[in-house]
Amino acid sequence: MSYQKVFTKWQTNPEQFWLEAAQDIDWVKAPVKALNGKNAPVYEWFTDSLVNGCYNAVDRHVVAGRGDQVAIIHDSPVTGTKRAITYSELQENVARLAGALSAKGVKLGDRVIIYMPMVPEALEAMLACARIGAIHSVIFGGFAAAELAVRINDCTPKAIIAASCGIEPARVVAYKPLLDNAIEMAEHKPEFCIILQRPQTDAPMIPGRDFGWVEVQKNVAPADCVAVLGNHPAYILYTSGTTGAPKGVVRPTAGHLVALNWTMRAIYNVGVGDVFWAASDVGWVVGHSYICYAPLIAGCTTIIYEGKPVGTPDAAAFWRVIDEHKVRSFFTAPTALRAIKRDDPQGLSVGRHAMDNLQAIFLAGERADPDTIEWAQRHTGKPVFDHWWQTETGYAIAANPLGLGALPVKIGSPSVPMPGYDLQILDEGGHPVGTNILGAIVVKLPLPPGCLPTLWNAPDRFHKSYLAHFPGYYETGDAGFIDDDGYIYIMARTDDVINVAGHRLSTGAMEEVLAAHPDVAECAVVGISDTLKGQSPLGFICLNKGVTRPHAAIIAECVSLMREKIGPVADFKRALVIDRLPKTRSGKILRAIMVKLADQQPYKEPATIDDPAILDELREALQSIGLAGKAL
Ligand code: COA
Ligand code: AMP
Repeated sequence: MSYQKVFTKWQTNPEQFWLEAAQDIDWVKAPVKALNGKNAPVYEWFTDSLVNGCYNAVDRHVVAGRGDQVAIIHDSPVTGTKRAITYSELQENVARLAGALSAKGVKLGDRVIIYMPMVPEALEAMLACARIGAIHSVIFGGFAAAELAVRINDCTPKAIIAASCGIEPARVVAYKPLLDNAIEMAEHKPEFCIILQRPQTDAPMIPGRDFGWVEVQKNVAPADCVAVLGNHPAYILYTSGTTGAPKGVVRPTAGHLVALNWTMRAIYNVGVGDVFWAASDVGWVVGHSYICYAPLIAGCTTIIYEGKPVGTPDAAAFWRVIDEHKVRSFFTAPTALRAIKRDDPQGLSVGRHAMDNLQAIFLAGERADPDTIEWAQRHTGKPVFDHWWQTETGYAIAANPLGLGALPVKIGSPSVPMPGYDLQILDEGGHPVGTNILGAIVVKLPLPPGCLPTLWNAPDRFHKSYLAHFPGYYETGDAGFIDDDGYIYIMARTDDVINVAGHRLSTGAMEEVLAAHPDVAECAVVGISDTLKGQSPLGFICLNKGVTRPHAAIIAECVSLMREKIGPVADFKRALVIDRLPKTRSGKILRAIMVKLADQQPYKEPATIDDPAILDELREALQSIGLAGKAL
C-alpha cells in the first residue's frame, strides 16, 4: 500500500490502524482496546494487554524454527574481533542472565542500570531485564561519574550491570573506577553489580557487592518470560533537557513493540532474515530502538559495531561492514558521514566494497546537510533518506517510508509525517501558521504508541516540558515549516539543547558546571556551527571581581571540569573570558545573538538590548579565537 493510502487509513481510524499493527506481535493477552485516554492529556496504548518484550525479540523466533539464524553480529575493529550469536544462543544467554538477576532478587518493576560499551552482552542485559519485567536504564559510556550518579539517584536501581572497560581508538576507558566513583557519590546504593570483565582491563571487584558476569550465572535456573501489562515501562532513557537534571524518558512496553515492528517493514523495508545495521551506540535512543529492539522483534540480524566511522582503521570501515555482513538497510548520523567525507572526499574507499545488498542509507540525529547527502548518494549510488525523531518518540516522526514505496526526496527535508503523527506548525500564540512559514513543530495529541507517556519520577516536568505551552499538543522543541507538498523541514531547536555529533546535550547543564568554578561570576554556553560535528559548545565566562589569575589557566580548568562533571561526550574544548554578557534590559542573556556573531551570520541588533556596545566587545573577543560576525 502506498504512503498516502496508509496515512489516510491511519487518519480515518487511528485505533483500528494500531490494533491491526498489533497483530504482528505475540501477546499473552492481546489488546482489545488500543487507546486509553482516561488520564488525558496523558494517553496510554494497549493498557489492557499482557505481553513480554524479550519473548517478541528472541523466543518467538526460536519457536518459529529460526533458532539457527544469526541474531547479533559483533564487529569490533577496536579489539580486532568478530562474533556471531544465533537466536537460540541469544535465548539461552538471556534466560540465564535473567535467571541470575532473579536469583539475586530483581523483580518486576525493579530498575537495573546498564553501563556498557558496544558488546553483545549489553543487548543481552537489556533483554534479560525485559524478560523478567525489570526496567533497564542504559547510560552512555562517554558520560562522567557525576552524570552516572545523577541517574542512579533518579531511577534508584537495585542492580547495575557494567563492563570493565570501553575501547576508544586512542585509549581504553576503564568503566569500573567511574562506576565505583558514581556509586560513592550517589545517595542511592545498588544492592549489587554484575561486571563483565573484558580482556583489555581487569576491573577490581568489591567483595559482596560486585559479581563477575560468568560467576553470577553459574548454577542458576534460566528465567522464563514474565507477562507485563501493556503500559509497563520497558526502560528509562535519560536525555538532555534545558537544565542540568536529565529527563528520564519512559518507554511503554506494548506500544514500543507494536510501533517498532511496524517501522521495520514500512520505513526500512526489512523483515525476517535481513541484516539491519544502525551505527549508533546502545546508550542512545537509536541504539535502544534500532540496534536492540526493532531488528530483533522483526527477526532480522542486527550488528553491534564497536568502532568509529574513521580511524578504525580507515574511512572504508562502514562500507566494509555493509559489504561483509550483507547489510540491507543502514542507519547512521550525518556527522559520521561527514567524518568519512573529510577523510575520503573523493569517495575512493566506497568503490572498494560492492555493497550489493544495500538498498538505502537512513540518516537521523541532527540536521542532514545537503552536501553530505549528495556526497553519500554520489559515491555509494544508493538513495539516502533523512528522517527525524527524538528520544521521546523512540522512532521516526517524519521519514521517507521505503517499505511503502519511497517518495521523491527533497534534500533538506526528512520528508513526510509517519502515521500516528498529526504534525502542525504553530506560532508563539499557539495559532496554526500557513505552509512555508516557520514556527514551533507540535504533534496533536495523542502521540502514537511507543512514545513517552511521562518522565520517570517527574510527571509535572513532563507536563511543563511538553504539554503546557500548547494545550492539546506535544511540543517537540524543534522549529521548522511544512511546504506545499506536506514535506517537513527541521530548522532549529527552540530550547537550549544543542546537538554535537548527533548527541543531544544541554547548554544549561554545561552552564551549571562553569558556574561552579570558584572564579566564575557569570557564564553562558552556546552551540556554534561545526563542520564535522554539526554544533560545538563554546563557553563565555565573566570572572569574579579581583581575580587576577591568567585566563588561559582558568579556561583549562573549566575544560577539565566539564570533562569530569559531564564527560568527554560534551566535547567542551573552547571558552572565552569576557567582561560582561550581552543581555536584554530585563536581564535575559542574548544567546542567539552570540551564536550568530560566532558563526559569522548577519544578525539584527535587538531593540531590547541593554547596551549595544557590548556586541563590539564580544566581536573582538571572538576574533581573538578566529571567530566573529557582522551586523545586518
Ligand atoms: N566511552 C568513553 N568515551 C567516549 C565514548 C564512550 N562510549 N564515546 C565517545 N567518547 C569520547 C571520545 O573518546 C572523545 O574523547 P576525547 O575528547 O578525549 O577525544 C569524546 O568522547 C568525543 O567523542 P566523539 O563524539 O566520538 O568525537 P570524535 O572526535 O572522537 O569522533 C566522530 C568524531 C564524528 C567520528 C564521532 O563523533 C562519531 O562517530 N559520531 C557519530 C555519532 C553517532 O552515531 N551518533 C548517533 C546518535 S543517534
Ligand atoms: P535525540 O533525542 O538525542 O535523538 O535528539 C533529538 C533531536 O535531534 C531532535 O529534536 C532534533 O532537534 C534533532 N534531530 C534528530 N533528527 C533530526 C533530523 N533528521 N533533522 C534535523 N534534526 C534532527
